[in-house]
Amino acid sequence: MASLVIVLAVAGERSLVVSASVSASGCDLFRGRWVSDESYPLYNASSCPFVPDVFDCRRNGRPDSGYLKLRWSPAGCEMPSFDGAAFLRRWRGKTVMLVGDSLSMNQWVSLACMLHAALPAPGRVAFVPGEPVSSVRFVDYDLLLVLYHTTFLVDVVTEEGVGRVLRLDSMRNATTWIGAHLLVFNTWHWWTYRGKSQVWDFVEDGNSTYRDMDRVTAFSKGLSTWARWVDANIDTSRTRVFFQGISPSHYMSKQEDSEVPARGGSCLKQTRPLQDATEAVLPEQAVVRGVIDAMTSPVSLLDITALSQLRIDAHPSVYAGRGRDGCDCTHWCIAGLPDAWNQIMYAMLLQKN
Ligand SMILES: *[C@@H]1O[C@H](CO)[C@@H](O)[C@H](O)[C@H]1NC(C)=O
Ligand SMILES: *[C@@H]1O[C@H](CO)[C@@H](O)[C@H](O)[C@H]1NC(C)=O
Ligand SMILES: *[C@@H]1O[C@H](CO)[C@@H](O)[C@H](O)[C@H]1NC(C)=O
Repeated sequence: MASLVIVLAVAGERSLVVSASVSASGCDLFRGRWVSDESYPLYNASSCPFVPDVFDCRRNGRPDSGYLKLRWSPAGCEMPSFDGAAFLRRWRGKTVMLVGDSLSMNQWVSLACMLHAALPAPGRVAFVPGEPVSSVRFVDYDLLLVLYHTTFLVDVVTEEGVGRVLRLDSMRNATTWIGAHLLVFNTWHWWTYRGKSQVWDFVEDGNSTYRDMDRVTAFSKGLSTWARWVDANIDTSRTRVFFQGISPSHYMSKQEDSEVPARGGSCLKQTRPLQDATEAVLPEQAVVRGVIDAMTSPVSLLDITALSQLRIDAHPSVYAGRGRDGCDCTHWCIAGLPDAWNQIMYAMLLQKN
């Protein structure tokens, strides 16, 4: 416990808020490259009881396995190897909660499998899938790993005679997140959906209601509401807060009007990572950075966009399971890329500066 207190005390300093990923040694965990490592993956997904069909690429027939055997290697330092047993001990008696959309689910399943693989046999787990809350309890450690599914972080409410309203300044359900000891938030993908995949009819900002709004602007307003909520409600001396940055999709052209993307997404048949990432910062990435930098609470940005952009090979593509006949270039296979997100988060939790 003592070491956790030290981390939190350091995290209280403003400097860590601005460049959360840069340690005293100057190492940026998010710059680096993917290297082959035959010891990977970190766990066998067939032996992990939490993997939903949509992420279980091998079981769904994906034939290649190179995508499983890549390790993220930061440019300026060694990343500590993930010690699941140490994680279980350190977070004993605590609640770790991921809050967000299916990309949060991707990271949650990955972390659940990484911890499950570290359990001394026979590991006792209680798995309760549900909506909006799913959980895995690691019984012998009294560690509760929770997924709270919410697409926008802010509320969508059905108003009689009006319809479904996306309320940019309302977070009524958020009270259930208070009390977790480690919180990892994420939202973005659903902000872009139009047509049948759009789950609201109007957007409300303060006392004004609109048919639509520029989506990056709406995202910025909604994320600012989240930031004010964290600043007002989360005691960061007992809760460590992360924001999972923008997880990139790989489509030839953006499929904004469809939840299930069309065939021919550009991740199709990709078996190797890209060599070069674009340096361009996406508008939604700029929003995330701006909002987090303006917060008074220390929030660590898991700035996964660039390292994930390289992983065009890591999506389920056509191996997302029965009943999904599109090409999924949004989510990620398990085992796979989200394991690296969790390894980096683990490294950031260890950083004492
Ligand atoms: C993974 O686990 C499955 C089922 O337990 C087993 O059949 C398979 O051989 C394992 N794969 C590896 C690479 O260990
Ligand atoms: C709060 O969560 C419940 C499900 O537990 C959901 O039905 C409801 O729509 C949510 N409320 C808001 C305001 O998002
Ligand atoms: C919204 O309307 C209420 C009641 O009319 C008013 O008190 C409040 O100041 C308004 N808020 C904004 C942001 O305009």
